[in-house]
Formats: sequence, structure tokens, C-alpha cells
Amino acid sequence: MHVSHLSLADFRSYARVEVPLDPGVTAFVGPNGQGKTNLVEAVGYLATLGSHRVSSDAPLVRMGADRAIVRAAVVEGERQQLIELELNPGRANRARINRSSQVRPRDVLGIVRTVLFAPEDLALVKGDPGERRRFLDELITARSPRMAGVRADYERVLKQRNTLLKTAAMARRHGGRQLDLSTLDVWDQHLARAGAELLAQRLDLIAALQPLADKAYGQLAPGGGPLALEYRGSAGEAMAAASTREELYGVLLEALGEARKGEIERGVTLVGPHRDDLVLKLGQLPAKGYASHGESWSYALALRLASYDLLRSEGAPGPAAPEGGRRAGEPVLVLDDVFAELDARRRERLAELVAPGEQVLVTAAVADDVPGVLAGARFAVSEGTVRKAGP
Ligand SMILES: Nc1ncnc2c1ncn2[C@@H]1O[C@H](COP(=O)(O)OP(=O)(O)OP(=O)(O)O)[C@@H](O)[C@H]1O
Ligand SMILES: [Mg+2]
Repeated sequence: MHVSHLSLADFRSYARVEVPLDPGVTAFVGPNGQGKTNLVEAVGYLATLGSHRVSSDAPLVRMGADRAIVRAAVVEGERQQLIELELNPGRANRARINRSSQVRPRDVLGIVRTVLFAPEDLALVKGDPGERRRFLDELITARSPRMAGVRADYERVLKQRNTLLKTAAMARRHGGRQLDLSTLDVWDQHLARAGAELLAQRLDLIAALQPLADKAYGQLAPGGGPLALEYRGSAGEAMAAASTREELYGVLLEALGEARKGEIERGVTLVGPHRDDLVLKLGQLPAKGYASHGESWSYALALRLASYDLLRSEGAPGPAAPEGGRRAGEPVLVLDDVFAELDARRRERLAELVAPGEQVLVTAAVADDVPGVLAGARFAVSEGTVRKAGP
């Protein structure tokens, strides 16, 4: 698939901008702070309903405006769809697909799929577990958009359960009314049900990603590796023997039972996918805390390349392709400012690996940082204007 037109209103630094796009490579080039990343951030938003730079929508709305609009025309084979998202910080966002407003923002997921490389990716390797959880969860949603609903359910149950635990912790400290434990039992079941579904998807994803990431790392840093992706679950050792949703449900429920005393003392949920981590190993050692800067970069790139391979090989979600037909749904590759961070060899390797993509959007402050194999259309971005500057 590819985005054939991007249109923004009051998004980041743009009052209005219209950007016609073709398949193949498009580079956005211009000095720092001119709005290059803002453009590709909008494309990423269509795919994930979030930004790769900030965790809330407020910074995405142009200063002084009260809502932002991201519109895109998306071409998938013979089919074209129009998507429109209205970002209303503090209120519910709205969506339209093909001009119909009878949809939720979540229904947009799966129409645009992206794999986005950005300087922020280094945090996948060096950052907190939350970075890696977000990486996993965004990818499971790209593989299966209905998981957005499961993630939302989980978050809702977690929040309510935490409120209950907090009340119980307060009551305990101040000698108030004891918590009715049967209420907590019900919340345990809800949490374990949504949690098990999320866990099953994460484990399945990791199994699929591991060989692809290992291969990609070998291509970027020959002789390095091997990579191992190890899931570290808050439900403990018992998780190792569980893989189906039912088994994971049982493991979570039991772990919640064991954690209950501590949870009531501390007033928070201590077990579940929101407390888990993905340990990224390079050779025998965890990359976090051990890998060099360059190795960490290669690791992050390998995870993104593996994501691309996986999404491409699985095709778009939804009905299977007709017999013998090509499975549609190749994701849009976005490379935000990554070449400046890499040495010449990894720059060339990365460029060769992504060049054949159906649509590749690149940003760079310096035109010469874009490797030759990524020659294609070019836009000059300066002071909020986006002007065609190449074929
Ligand atoms: N909500 C907003 N309202 C107005 N301006 C904004 C908003 N958010 C960001 N900006 C402005 O957008 C500019 C940054 O744009 P962007 O990150 O796209 O730059 P860039 O061209 O990618 O630069 P670099 O080469 O440094 O990465 C900054 O000048 C910033 O002040
Ligand atoms: Mg930028």
C-alpha cells in the first residue's frame, strides 16, 4: 500500500499543507526545525493513532489552534480509501473513512501500516521496559487491528482495579472499611482474560520476530550477534510452560492470587502485561547496560527491519488474498533522520535493504546524507512550506 496524498490542518507547525505522494522513495530535505519530522509523524499517526515522539496528542495540535486534522488518501492495489482524523486534545478524537463518520478512530487502524525508524528508537534498547512494551503492542496491533480493542479493555480494567486497590490500601492504613474481596476476584478475572490475550499475542510475535531480527542484525553488523529476544513476564516462572490463551489465563490468575497481599499493601496491580519486559540479548549479555552505542543502534534498526519483514510477509490483515494472488499490504517505510546517526557502512546496508519498499519516506537535514540507492522524489521543507524539488 502507499499514501497518495497527505493533507494536514493545524498539525504541529503546519497551519495547512498538501503533499501529493507517489510510490517509491520520497525524501524531505531541509534545515533543522522546519517541519520534516512533523510530516512523517502524521503518517505514523494514521497507522498507530499515536506519535513516535510524544505520548499525548496535545503537542500535535498547532499552538493556538484547538484541534488538528490529518487526512490521507491511501492506495491498496486497485482500491483507494480516504481517511480523516480529527485530534481534539482533552476530548474524544473523531474519524472518517471515505467520508463516513459512522466510525471510531480505532476503525482506521490497519488501513495505513507503517514501519518507522527514528532517532528515538535507541530507547528501544537503552530505555525503560515501557518502550519495549509499546514496540510489541504497536506491532501486534498492526498485525491484528482488533487487538486495539483488547489493549483498551486491558487498560480500562487495570485502571479500575488500581482504583479499587488504592481505596483498599487507604482503608487499611486508616482503619476504614475492609475491601470486599469477592469484588477483587471479579476484577482479577477480567484482568487475566484481557491480559492473557495480550500475552499470547506478544509471545507469538516474539517467536516470529526473533529469527528475522537475528538475520537483520547479521546484515547490518556482519559477524555480530546472535540476538535473542526473551520475554520477562511479571507472572514469573510458570509462564515458561504456558503458551495458549487458556494456559496464560490460568497462570495470570494464580500469580494475581499470590501477589494479592502485596497489592493491597501497595495499592497497585503488580502482575500483568503492563509490568513485563522484553529482554534484548546480544550474545550472552543483555544489550541494555552492556552493548556499545553502535551495537545498540544496530539492534534497534534490526528490530525495525524485522518488523518490516514480518508485516510484509504476512500481508494486510483481513480476508486472505485470492488463490495465487499477491497478499497486499506492504507497509510504508518511514526513515526519520536515521542516516545522520549511522556510519557509512551501516548507512549503505540499511538503504539497500529498504530501497525496494513499495513506499519509502525519508527525512534528512542534509541531502548528501541520503544514500544514492534511495534516489527518488524530493521535497524541500522550509518555514512550513513543502515544495517539490526533484523528479
Ligand atoms: N504544536 C506545535 N505548534 C507549533 N509549532 C510546533 C508544534 N510542535 C512543533 N512545532 C514546531 O515544529 C518545528 C519542528 O519541526 P520538526 O520536528 O518537523 O523539524 P525537522 O524539520 O524534522 O527538524 P530536524 O532536522 O531538526 O529533525 C519546531 O520549530 C517546533 O517549534
Ligand atoms: Mg526531524
